[in-house]
Amino acid sequence: MKSQILAICIAALASHVSGSTFSPARPPAIPLAVKSPYMNTWLEVGGDGGSGGVLPGHWPGPQPGSVAGTSGSVTGWTGLIKVDGTSYTWMGEPNVNGVSPQSVTQESFEYTSSRSTFIMNVNGKVSMNVTFVSPVTPDDLRRQSVIGTYLSVSVAATDGRTHSVQLYADTSAEWTSIHNSDVAQWSYKVNNGVASHQSWRQNQSEFNADYPDDAAHWGHWYWSTAATSSMTYQSGQDTTVRQNFLSNGALPNSQDSNYRAISEDWPVFAFANSLGNVGQTPVTTLYTIVHAQQNTVYFNGASGNVPVPSLWTSYWSSELAMVNFFYNDWHNTLGNWDYKYATESLAAGGQDYLTITTLSARQAFGAVQLCGTAEKPYLFLKEISSDGNVQTVDVMFPAMPIFLYSNPILVKYLLDPLFENQEAGQFPQKYAMHDLGSSYPRAIGHPTGDGEYMPLEECGNMIIMTLAYAQRANDNNYLSQHYDILSQWTGYLVDEALIPANQLSTDDFQGQLANQTNLALKGIIAIEAMAVIAELTGNSADASNYHNIATSYISKWQGLAVVSSASPPHTSLAYNDDSSHGLLYNLYADKLLGLNLVPQSIYDMQSKFYATVSQTYGVPLDTRDMCTKSDWEMWCASIASSSTQQMFISKLATWINETSTNRAFTDLYDTQTGGFVDGPFISRPVVGGHFALLALNDAPANAVGKRTNVVEKNFEA
Ligand SMILES: *[C@@H]1O[C@H](CO)[C@@H](O)[C@H](O)[C@H]1NC(C)=O
Ligand SMILES: *[C@@H]1O[C@H](CO)[C@@H](O)[C@H](O)[C@H]1NC(C)=O
Ligand SMILES: *[C@@H]1O[C@H](CO)[C@@H](O)[C@H](O)[C@H]1NC(C)=O
Ligand SMILES: *[C@@H]1O[C@H](CO)[C@@H](O)[C@H](O)[C@H]1NC(C)=O
Repeated sequence: MKSQILAICIAALASHVSGSTFSPARPPAIPLAVKSPYMNTWLEVGGDGGSGGVLPGHWPGPQPGSVAGTSGSVTGWTGLIKVDGTSYTWMGEPNVNGVSPQSVTQESFEYTSSRSTFIMNVNGKVSMNVTFVSPVTPDDLRRQSVIGTYLSVSVAATDGRTHSVQLYADTSAEWTSIHNSDVAQWSYKVNNGVASHQSWRQNQSEFNADYPDDAAHWGHWYWSTAATSSMTYQSGQDTTVRQNFLSNGALPNSQDSNYRAISEDWPVFAFANSLGNVGQTPVTTLYTIVHAQQNTVYFNGASGNVPVPSLWTSYWSSELAMVNFFYNDWHNTLGNWDYKYATESLAAGGQDYLTITTLSARQAFGAVQLCGTAEKPYLFLKEISSDGNVQTVDVMFPAMPIFLYSNPILVKYLLDPLFENQEAGQFPQKYAMHDLGSSYPRAIGHPTGDGEYMPLEECGNMIIMTLAYAQRANDNNYLSQHYDILSQWTGYLVDEALIPANQLSTDDFQGQLANQTNLALKGIIAIEAMAVIAELTGNSADASNYHNIATSYISKWQGLAVVSSASPPHTSLAYNDDSSHGLLYNLYADKLLGLNLVPQSIYDMQSKFYATVSQTYGVPLDTRDMCTKSDWEMWCASIASSSTQQMFISKLATWINETSTNRAFTDLYDTQTGGFVDGPFISRPVVGGHFALLALNDAPANAVGKRTNVVEKNFEA
């Protein structure tokens, strides 16, 4: 029932490109194994070297490394199949002693939130469904803690006959490091019916990683399948191993123990399955790839710098036990969240909205890792590609909607490390810190008070995120626990928010600017959020003080921010610059928290205005250039009139379908050409912000119940 509804929605938008259809759209890059900052393998679609979205004939690559990193590396992943003695390639671009087996014909591609499915036709005889699933299970931390991806291949005859079929898949040592001169080591293990090739970088170096390529220098990779009697395996040189399969349809069950550099006779880890005579009943082979790290981050918390374990270590006593569980759990992780995200996106924003959110889910969850213990979990976030920071507050903020909507406790697990570090006195500034460390996974903080300077931005973000979590979890305790530091940050806002000094906002690629209208608005909304926090924690004198300040500021802000003489009127990018404008995305927080601080006339005015400045692929971020941010567009869309909302949504869905870039859902793009904007904005967690509309589902109508609104000013006279 569930899957039928989904299939109908998806089929309605199937598109034809290079022989294959794509539904619900043809994305710039297709997620294959996207589950953590270090398991982020995509098939590049756009661009000169792109595959056009066709699986056979191109190597999958780690993003951002393969498109913008220093390495240009790939994650070698090969699929071959023999049907009645003829060999074909279904994944990768293997060259076997100068010969590349012909590719199977890709007929269609389809994605959901956790799944990418390619349907192949093998010479009119056999169809193959190749499905990659990186589970998204935000309500089940045990399952979400496994850094693993499934690859399921099912084969059936389509011509009414039976065919002799052998299936082959390998991974290369390139998964262990992006540096081909690094030495890899490997072994083969069978545990309770699951066979695994284990491989790793021989020089294990915990908490070291490459930037910007996002490759870890520690941990083990497990490439696994069922240990059945029809399965054979081999590790060894790529050409040797693949030639064995092409010649014999099977492998010699042998291991190469000459551990060596990745590019020295390219070691690969292979499985072959003899499927026998396949008729119309599909025969399925399941593989998994898992990345296992005992420790994930190095964290300067309340008790100084300590290693933090990966959360999976709380649930399984060994890597193999975890791998076994994951392999056998295939049917349990499939579907539920795909269904929820799809149906609720469809109901909230329509088919184009589903196209956007379902492409975003794996990417957002792929930038975070569950760590700590079952009693005290943390969710650590990597600012993938743009600078590799840990727990960047103004990246968590745009990403927050997906976490808030999927499971609000995840927002607490993101905030906790920042509170712990700063409440332990590890950041000697009166404003909130920008990030917990300049390079993931070293969450070592900024004990000297340095780090990127975005004081107003981050004070506002911390207060707004804290209240957003507490409202949905009914956790007033959390507010009491952090009241002191939240008050300190609010003090900063009271001093600085109304007339913002020359500084960066989160859109730091645009440079510094004084008097930013949108930044001031965030600060003022956060002061009102603190009034609510004060009220919820019994600090009523603070509550009325903050409320009075916020109310007075917001009416002054309207005088400074609104260009009422413009036609149509709108807010400026910066005070006193009447020819400027920008996306007023911080207004979203007023709705998200149910504050009702900002008059409805401001919402209506912006809503009307955006439609007058939109370009082919969206509305520019501001008057400085034609680029925009997809996350902020969806924030604005979610609080706009329904026609403006649909305008934003349909232009972004069109961009996904048409952009020439091969960068995993780049959130920074050109609204006129649809291309990416220079600078690495690849596979970033901020696409979680595309769930802004869904996160409003649980927004309180009125945060405190009995506020009198500020007097509305009418700017449209
Ligand atoms: C592949 O998927 C399609 C669509 O879901 C289904 O109709 C077909 O039976 C599947 N084929 C195999 C071989 O599993
Ligand atoms: C091991 O790798 C680390 C970087 O992760 C490097 O600093 C160190 O020199 C390497 N050790 C050897 C013996 O190559
Ligand atoms: C910011 O705006 C205020 C209020 O209009 C003005 O007094 C001040 O000069 C502006 N600051 C800058 C740097 O433009
Ligand atoms: C994607 O493009 C195809 C072909 O150009 C078109 O048929 C389809 O409607 C488009 N889908 C979206 C979501 O824009």
